[in-house]
Amino acid sequence: MKSIAAIILAAGKGTRMKSDLVKVMHPLAGAPLIEYPVTAAQQADASRMVVVIGHQADAVRAFLADRNEIAFALQEEQHGTGHAVACAAPYLRDFHGQVLILCGDVPLIEAATLRNMITRHEQQRATVTVLTALLENPHGYGRIIKNGAGAVTAIVEEKDATAEQRSIREINSGIYCVESDFLFDAVARLGSDNAQGEYYLTDIIRMAVERGLNCAAHPIPDPLEVMGINDRVQLAQAETALRKRINEAHMRDGVTLRDPAVTYIDRGTVIGRDTVINAAVHISGRTEIGEGCIIEPGAIIRSCRLGKRVIVKAGSVLEDSIVHDAVSIGPMAHLRPGTELMEKVKIGNFVETKKITMGKGSKASHLTYLGDASIGSDVNIGCGTITCNYDGVSKHRTVIEDDVFVGSDVQFIAPVTVGRNSIIAAGSTVTKDVPPDSLAIARSQQVNKEGWRKK
Ligand code: UD1
Ligand code: CA
Repeated sequence: MKSIAAIILAAGKGTRMKSDLVKVMHPLAGAPLIEYPVTAAQQADASRMVVVIGHQADAVRAFLADRNEIAFALQEEQHGTGHAVACAAPYLRDFHGQVLILCGDVPLIEAATLRNMITRHEQQRATVTVLTALLENPHGYGRIIKNGAGAVTAIVEEKDATAEQRSIREINSGIYCVESDFLFDAVARLGSDNAQGEYYLTDIIRMAVERGLNCAAHPIPDPLEVMGINDRVQLAQAETALRKRINEAHMRDGVTLRDPAVTYIDRGTVIGRDTVINAAVHISGRTEIGEGCIIEPGAIIRSCRLGKRVIVKAGSVLEDSIVHDAVSIGPMAHLRPGTELMEKVKIGNFVETKKITMGKGSKASHLTYLGDASIGSDVNIGCGTITCNYDGVSKHRTVIEDDVFVGSDVQFIAPVTVGRNSIIAAGSTVTKDVPPDSLAIARSQQVNKEGWRKK
């Protein structure tokens, strides 16, 4: 059984992001950048991991806190990638095997690629294997220098390269597999005599070559996978690429996306087959959508669970809610957190809900606010109904039992309970509990003054 550890370099600030937030915490398709290399390393069977943190170390540590195989190495001042690995070394003193090194700002790397690199590393009995790519425009990256036999002899940073070296298009991805004993010995001996005055991790190649050890390149065909995020232009490019990956995976699993280029589905969303998602839909958080649903244009769904055959009509916003089978929502409805709609509920246009349950088959078809309420099954909520849940100090609940018919323009002054099978007359302001099977009318009597206009 091979033994693999991973070191993830994430101490840098990310100056070019021009942000108050450290680079690796910037979100990409719903997760901070750091999530991606950590997950890829885990999926490539790294049994333990050291994340090197520095800038906003607390934020990065807090985000990864629930993963118990991760240790954190604090690099208080960032003296380069080699120095960063040296900071991680004490946490792997008892480890002997192959060490994957990844960058916190290279999110699109896939576990399968890492596994292939490890396999080649082992087959070639290499001490260092560098993941490389051929770029049309290699500007800014370290260049791979090889000898006639194709072995890597050095990596030269852009700032230290000769004009001839700069014309090399094979670049260093910043991702490596290195034999641990060599690695930790080498990074302890690095110097900083270069254009940036930093301890370059890349200098371990020269050291390996001097010791007669084998250094290999593992070139990959898709340069996107090793794209580093340095500014917000690259962040957007990575998001576009990742979104394409996510959307294509859903389509292959049987989900119809009418226009995938403008459909925004975050990492981690589960969607059932034969669900149709229209353009300009945003799905985020831990969302699950069942089979055979229709999500119309412009819907925003965040951290929700939807059953089967649910219809979410245009422009609706759903947050932290649970929606059971065959419910219809919208257009332009807003389910706020804590909403649970049982089977076949209908929520129509301009209806807002918050912390409510609504039983099977109940309807609120138009222009309504329902907050802090328990609504039974087969209840009809008339147009313009409001649960007045807030008295200026605290929130109160409205309870409406099964089979109640609420006429239009009714206000419930909570706390209040309406017993089952009752009718509330249109225009009522309900301040007292209503017993079951009753008619409640709470509005002033109409007065007709005949001939009044003629006077
Ligand atoms: C590095 C490589 C370069 C490669 C490129 C790929 C070196 C010397 N150069 O350059 O060959 O083409 O990555 O993207 O390694 N970091 C720390 N502590 C530090 C310095 C950096 O944790 O002291 C982290 C950064 O947060 C970042 C990663 O290491 O996640 C890479 O550092 P960065 O400064 O971006 O290196 P590059 O100049 O891009
Ligand atoms: Ca970089």
